[in-house]
Amino acid sequence: MLLAGNSIGKEFVVTSFGESHGKIVGITIDGCPAGLPLTKADVQAEVDRRIPRQPKIVSERIEKDKVQIQSGVFNGFTTGAPITMTVANEDVDSSDYEAMKDLPRPGHADYTARMKYGGFNDYRGGGRFSGRITVALIMAGAVAKKLLNQFQVDVFAYTKSIGNVKLDKSLSYEEVRSRRYETAVRCPDRACAKKMEEAIVAARKEGDSLGGIIECLALNVPAGVGEPLFDSLDADIAKILLAIPAVKGVEFGAGFKAAEMKGSENNDAYRMQHRKVVALTNNAGGILGGLSSGMPLIVRVAVKPTSSIAKEQRTVNLRSMEDAKIKVKGRHDPCVVPKAVPVVESAVAIILADHMIRADVIPKVLKERK
Ligand SMILES: Cc1cc2nc3c(=O)[nH]c(=O)nc-3n(C[C@H](O)[C@H](O)[C@H](O)COP(=O)(O)O)c2cc1C
Repeated sequence: MLLAGNSIGKEFVVTSFGESHGKIVGITIDGCPAGLPLTKADVQAEVDRRIPRQPKIVSERIEKDKVQIQSGVFNGFTTGAPITMTVANEDVDSSDYEAMKDLPRPGHADYTARMKYGGFNDYRGGGRFSGRITVALIMAGAVAKKLLNQFQVDVFAYTKSIGNVKLDKSLSYEEVRSRRYETAVRCPDRACAKKMEEAIVAARKEGDSLGGIIECLALNVPAGVGEPLFDSLDADIAKILLAIPAVKGVEFGAGFKAAEMKGSENNDAYRMQHRKVVALTNNAGGILGGLSSGMPLIVRVAVKPTSSIAKEQRTVNLRSMEDAKIKVKGRHDPCVVPKAVPVVESAVAIILADHMIRADVIPKVLKERK
């Protein structure tokens, strides 16, 4: 029996725990095949990419995030036992949250969490609803990506737009893959990235925030991975992506644009290439009937603008039950998109690892230890 809403996956089962201002955040992976080479440095490298080194566009909270692998790895290989990984929460400042305890921030989960947990939830820093808990997803994603890499599957995400600044240049997969982390906003085109950064800085100056769109690609996923109906590959990917705080929309391939196309335009016609079936276009985004088509998997998420803004907003006082005003204090990201890029990448990798184990493309033991 899975825990209440904190686990995902059927074979590669990921369970998240921890709160923003508690002692730790972490993840347990149950079902990772034995025999995967894995070191703390592999996971640390992914976690280190979470925070762009550009203080103008991120929160002032310093997150050192030193990864600890607590179990499931022995002599540099996964053992097949549950892998638990944690990072400590440092640089915690809860003072602003005491003052705002009864004033739910518009757009955040303060009011809904209070309704569900009767005020017992740890509200400091957004508690369980904080973007902070996505560090844990990145740790699990590091393992999933390493596993997928053994089977030549490559997953990478990048920023496609921030506010109304859009990347309209077409770049090759290799350009996107190799350049995505070269800019603080995680956009592989430097000129566009500069405009995105300027837009974030301008919004922050006004006490406001911005959202954007992240695209994620997965290359070399073999055809036929996925399960029917409710466990379809796109349904599971959409589920994990919508679980990322601030993600409000998900689309695959042509996505919402497909609604305006004719069948003859939207269908991806087939042809033979070196005795292999390939599609001439990829409006399906690599998934048909919930199963991978062998074409690149393409999924995009819409990320809303950060809800915690310095501008004055209307709210209510839940103690006195009167109307109130709020100017959100604390350290907040003026745009969560740059930090969410590696999270999206990790989330997609977690679901692909799960489904490739379910499809027997990835065995339970990678190779026998002699
Ligand atoms: C990496 C990351 C960082 C985030 N940082 C902040 C933040 O600094 N301030 C904030 O208000 N929301 C932040 N969020 C978003 C909130 O956690 C989220 O909006 C809130 O939990 C409500 O959930 P919903 O927007 O999915 O409905 C962040 C999200 C992510 C993925």
